[in-house]
Amino acid sequence: MTVQSTNRELMRTLDGVAASDGAGVKLRRYIGTEDLPELDPILLLDEFRTDGAEDYLAGFPDHPHRGFETVTYMLHGRMRHQDNKGNRGLLESGGAQWMTAGSGLIHSEMPEQSDGLLWGYQLWLNLAAEEKPMPPAYWDLPVTAIPAVPVGSRSQAVVIAGELLGTWGPTPQRQSEPLYWDLQLEPDEELLLPVPNGHVLIAFVCQGDLLLAHQPVRSGQLAVFGDGSAIEVRTGPAAARVLLIGGKPLREPVSRYGPFVMNTREEIQQAFADYRAGRM
Ligand code: CO
Repeated sequence: MTVQSTNRELMRTLDGVAASDGAGVKLRRYIGTEDLPELDPILLLDEFRTDGAEDYLAGFPDHPHRGFETVTYMLHGRMRHQDNKGNRGLLESGGAQWMTAGSGLIHSEMPEQSDGLLWGYQLWLNLAAEEKPMPPAYWDLPVTAIPAVPVGSRSQAVVIAGELLGTWGPTPQRQSEPLYWDLQLEPDEELLLPVPNGHVLIAFVCQGDLLLAHQPVRSGQLAVFGDGSAIEVRTGPAAARVLLIGGKPLREPVSRYGPFVMNTREEIQQAFADYRAGRM
């Protein structure tokens, strides 16, 4: 039997919507909107990118999570993290935090700078029903702890999650087999990246305009791909930076309310009850 290699097609691009979260942090939401409520197993994708301190200083004070994972990737700036289980961490430029909310926690995420550019991304990834009860866990990864692999002729890909060309990201294995790569591309590159068949796959263009699956995609746009085993990426005269994110669909019922993502309505009610009773 031969396995045919198929290149993925670009199905749609989205410009996201302006939103505000936490104590009034201005951000742009790309997944978790009316237009694109979710893309199993991806529940949410936010970009915060501003040099106006008033847009981010209030941060994200104490709030709960249960039933999924958050991946925060800071391109620039510092974010202090603290939860009610005694975990603390400081995310700095180039660093990532993989947080398993699992059975539940209450935490704060506060910018630790009073001026300058704050630029980062938060992704929410769903957990399979049998993974949701696991205790909260953290992977706090400074830039030096995240491997990079050469791609194209002069470019590189930082591998936060999943496997690319034999290099694995330093984050946990999950049923959804998540991948999260930061493609840092030089001008005039042409590459074909292998990606797992059957995974949902998105690309967020942080910087530069380029061709993804032969279609032009601009900086600040999210691209959603059809299925296939490879993705074609081509830069023009400018460098580009693209987050390539994906996961295997869980195909389970999703019951979601604010910071809780479970499988049934009863489990959401239980989450609220546990939160109110101080059991989170
Ligand atoms: Co949070």
